[in-house]
Amino acid sequence: MGFIRAMTPARLLFLLKLNGKAAGSTKTLARAGCSVCFRRNVCSSPSRLQNCMSAWVIDQYGTNGVLKYTEEVAIPTVSSTSEVMIKVHAASLNPLDIAMRGGYGAKLLKLRRDPLSVMDTVSEFPLILGRDVSGVVVDCGSDVTHFAPGDEVWAAVPPWKQGSLAEFVTLTEYEVSHKPKLLNHTEAASIPYVANTALSALVNAGGLCRDNSSDKRVLIIGGSGGVGTFSIQLLKAWGAHVTVTCSQNAEGLVRGLGAEEVVDYTTGDAAEQLQVMEKFDVILDSVGRETEQWAVGLLKPWCGAKYVTLATPLLLNTDSMGLLDGAFNAVFSLQAKAIQSIISSGAFYRWGFYAPDGPGLDEISKLVDAGKILPVVEAQFPFTQVPQAFQKLEQGHARGKTVVRVAEEDDRQDDELIENIRRDTAESEQEGQETAKQN
Ligand SMILES: NC(=O)c1ccc[n+]([C@@H]2O[C@H](COP(=O)([O-])OP(=O)(O)OC[C@H]3O[C@@H](n4cnc5c(N)ncnc54)[C@H](OP(=O)(O)O)[C@@H]3O)[C@@H](O)[C@H]2O)c1
Repeated sequence: MGFIRAMTPARLLFLLKLNGKAAGSTKTLARAGCSVCFRRNVCSSPSRLQNCMSAWVIDQYGTNGVLKYTEEVAIPTVSSTSEVMIKVHAASLNPLDIAMRGGYGAKLLKLRRDPLSVMDTVSEFPLILGRDVSGVVVDCGSDVTHFAPGDEVWAAVPPWKQGSLAEFVTLTEYEVSHKPKLLNHTEAASIPYVANTALSALVNAGGLCRDNSSDKRVLIIGGSGGVGTFSIQLLKAWGAHVTVTCSQNAEGLVRGLGAEEVVDYTTGDAAEQLQVMEKFDVILDSVGRETEQWAVGLLKPWCGAKYVTLATPLLLNTDSMGLLDGAFNAVFSLQAKAIQSIISSGAFYRWGFYAPDGPGLDEISKLVDAGKILPVVEAQFPFTQVPQAFQKLEQGHARGKTVVRVAEEDDRQDDELIENIRRDTAESEQEGQETAKQN
């Protein structure tokens, strides 16, 4: 039998423990030697090349040995009017980082970065991994209206852009959002990539939203990792009834986050345990492969129920078969499964994908500040230990997220940085006005 018990009383204790752990260890850290001057004059210690920053890069695909620390990466300055340059305070790792380190998606991502790269003239290296960022805006393009230097922001960095395991990252305004006030940077960095993925999968593919979820039964296959722990909380904030599958030792975690029913997939057949339950309106599958064989059968028949899987073959196929054959093969298999699912039970079979969505993060920020979504930070590492952070993630069995503290400022130093940026901005605006008057 599965673990279908009453809600555990551990929620508050669990959350306090998480928050205490993150805040306590952040404060004990030494400051990494770097300071920022507003408007592209990014300063660094005398030993560092001007206009260069420190970052973890890869120069080739491979195992952990390819990760290399360098202080000689060009700073990604604002190069278009809609861009926002962010000083990274914290980043987090996702399974995608492990996969991309090994070359996953290389062909399609290279094409997305530079459509002319099919000619193979442009190298993607040095490549910076890291998909989540929490930090402070240091520069904005002239068309940026939502952000100003000094703003504390968070974002998920698209995989075709240079990542956040670096001192600075530059994104478009649309990809960025104001960070929740309740979270420090370490906590905030644990959310954006899984949040954008969950929003895209549950809303765009699953058809759920804040206003239509209260009468929905949702199953999350794989509830204990980054996507799962976030999705449970989002769905509970929207009022859905949430069932999850996970290992037995993650039951307290997922129940603490709000899951009503929990099935332990390690003791017995998860499909059998789920089949005796009431059927589901939406299934979010973050595990894939064999789960796909039985999951569609758990949906309510003939009423528009949806199965959404995050285990999609598109990038794997384009890697192994080439861009055209791989894309054709993936889309063909998607269509075949979608048709089969509609014909057999009237249910929709869909792929879920990460999609950049700053406005979506704005909504999540409100839920975080309302106390409805909490960061689940399982492990955190200093910037000097990025390879160890990758090792941790590679061991599997995630219980929430692994975060890297990129800048080790304490709160007072953060305040000084923001104050300096604001003063410089005001001065440069005043100078501009005076010059305009003189002209
Ligand atoms: N398509 C996209 O755009 C997209 C975007 C984001 C993520 N993803 C994919 O979605 C998956 C989940 O991402 P994530 O960030 O949540 O990964 P994660 O943080 O590594 O979490 C994976 C979780 O699944 C659990 N698990 C493993 N096998 C399971 C099973 N058979 N049944 C139930 N739980 C199981 C693991 O714990 P135990 O092993 O201890 O049970 C772990 O807690 C990854 O494969 C990722 O690549 C895809």
